[in-house]
Amino acid sequence: MLNLEPYWLPYTANRAFKSDPRIIESAQGFYYKTRDGRTVLDSFSGLWSTGLGHCHPRIVKAVQDQVARLDYAAAFQVSHTGAFELAEKVINFAPDGFDHVFFTNSGSEAVDTALKIALGWHRVRGEGTRIKLIGRERGYHGVNFGGMSVGGIPGNRKMFGNAMLPNVDHLPHTLDLEHNAFSKGQPGWGLHLADELERIVALHNAENIAAVIVEPVAGSAGVLVPPLGYLERLREICTRHGILLIFDEVITAFHRIGTPFGCQRFGVMPDIITTAKGITNGVIPMGAVLVSDAIYQSFMSGPEHAIEFFHGYTYSGHPVAAAAGLAALDSYVEEDIGSRVAELEPFFEGALHALRDAPHVIDIRNFGLMGAIEMAPRPGAPGARGMEAHVKCFEQGLMVRHSTDTLAFSPFLTFTADLLGQTFDTVRRVLDAID
Ligand SMILES: Cc1ncc(COP(=O)(O)O)c(C=O)c1O
Repeated sequence: MLNLEPYWLPYTANRAFKSDPRIIESAQGFYYKTRDGRTVLDSFSGLWSTGLGHCHPRIVKAVQDQVARLDYAAAFQVSHTGAFELAEKVINFAPDGFDHVFFTNSGSEAVDTALKIALGWHRVRGEGTRIKLIGRERGYHGVNFGGMSVGGIPGNRKMFGNAMLPNVDHLPHTLDLEHNAFSKGQPGWGLHLADELERIVALHNAENIAAVIVEPVAGSAGVLVPPLGYLERLREICTRHGILLIFDEVITAFHRIGTPFGCQRFGVMPDIITTAKGITNGVIPMGAVLVSDAIYQSFMSGPEHAIEFFHGYTYSGHPVAAAAGLAALDSYVEEDIGSRVAELEPFFEGALHALRDAPHVIDIRNFGLMGAIEMAPRPGAPGARGMEAHVKCFEQGLMVRHSTDTLAFSPFLTFTADLLGQTFDTVRRVLDAID
């Protein structure tokens, strides 16, 4: 008998889960196998993380070989080959202008690292008054104090009261069902919301603001796609005021929206990129922060024996994570994942939006291989309908992610049109069956 009590599950309704557990025993390709022997189709690529499929043979082998050769190397003042090789590969994968990589173990750590780089960069350049950080409502930047503070999903903040970083403000989010419900791709409405940054700059003064951080497409809040021209406008305002623009690409990098990094799809270049998840195909925890040579070089002053940036993790650039990352990046290229996503995207959009007339549905949104179906909440019980849909889908052999009453989809980058059809047939059956 498996004792369920000791484990406190993250972001989970623990009591409901423990009375009706959904336990995964193994995975292969597009499918999970549960402890009670059922096969479940994964519509979410792990947690936006495992786009190349579960137990990808090349990554499995790389990890097995690496752990038997070098399990761990001290991360401070010494290093190992794999970390350098992966940094170079990530840079080759990234858009021009990104030249250096700082490794972390998660997206949350990548975000907090990026915020610290932004603050440090202004300070080493003699602009130490720039300490304000601007996030966005409904943004998700992980769960550490920096990311939580610039994040804007109310439920993630409420329990922790005023324990946020003090110097933070937020842009408004861009979802307005009156104006942009059922948009396919980027909504035409909402560009003016980027101009709110000018209002925030006027309020706080540019010389006090360090950085703006946004997800190019907000994922965890239920796939909020930037209005046409919105990211371009943010870029232009940041540049004009000397504010660093950070794109949190924990989800959008590694072909989730087609191009290697999301910024390439939009043609808008930030100053700093954070990423995680797909960097190792979710196999070993790892995150990364990408910066330009100009930012890196600004820190490279002072005596040569001195540490330039007082920051790092015991597991930064971990050998086994680096091996997984090297194998994953080779696979993205050799399996021509960019073209496969481009082919799949129209099928995904079509299958998702075909649910427009299903019960409870009040909005459908998509971009690249990110999609969401928003349901009306049950009166007085927000989240209950989403939870029931998740559980019922799982019972019918489909893993679907929900946050409150929004179902989110992140199909495998190598998925097929048939399996998309199967996915949304199950979702429709479940929506037809629930109150
Ligand atoms: C945009 C974004 N930033 C940060 C994070 C946090 O990443 P992690 O859960 O690896 O800490 C996530 C996780 O989904 C994310 O989507």
